[in-house]
Amino acid sequence: MADLTPLLAFRWSPRAFDHTAELSPQDASALLEAARWAPSADNSQPWRFALGHRDDDTWKRILVSLPGGDQRWARHAAALVLAARAGGDAERAGYDLGQAVAHLTVQATALGLHVRQLRDLDRAGLVTDLDLPAHVRPHVVIAVGRLGDPLSLPADLLRAETGLRHRLPLAALLLTGRAARYVP
Ligand SMILES: Cc1cc2nc3c(=O)[nH]c(=O)nc-3n(C[C@H](O)[C@H](O)[C@H](O)COP(=O)(O)O)c2cc1C
Repeated sequence: MADLTPLLAFRWSPRAFDHTAELSPQDASALLEAARWAPSADNSQPWRFALGHRDDDTWKRILVSLPGGDQRWARHAAALVLAARAGGDAERAGYDLGQAVAHLTVQATALGLHVRQLRDLDRAGLVTDLDLPAHVRPHVVIAVGRLGDPLSLPADLLRAETGLRHRLPLAALLLTGRAARYVP
């Protein structure tokens, strides 16, 4: 495998977060700045964020929007960030928002933090609870924190946490020759 920059090679998405670690204002600001400087089509910047620190109102409102199974581990995260898209073209804004979140994720790694994103959330509930403007649509929640002890997880999550990570082989991603006919 080609050498990746350590910022990418060491990134992974844990569920075990250190429930005593807090997100400093400096680190919170660096994460949001990283997202802010992401590229976007026509520089439209169709991303909006709500960041809650553990136990504050925003954090609690984001936490209760998650399924009970995910709340089991997400409640230990130092911060929960709602990443929302702004604007009418969902496909275009979703693409740009994803890049902004990727930037945030790389910045988190640089700060010794970990991130796990969540797609299953009560979007309508968040619109109400966070009093979001009509053009802003919740997209994903990002749990951020310091790595915790996997042994603190329930058995089913511990198994998932310590299992091997998988990726498609590079040849299956290249749209040339036989690989172009690969269907997952
Ligand atoms: C958009 C998005 C949505 C995700 N949603 C969930 C989720 O709802 N629950 C969860 O446990 N993990 C979720 N994940 C984490 C992925 O399962 C994880 O990134 C993937 O298995 C690859 O693992 P890695 O990030 O450790 O490389 C999500 C990740 C992304 C990028």
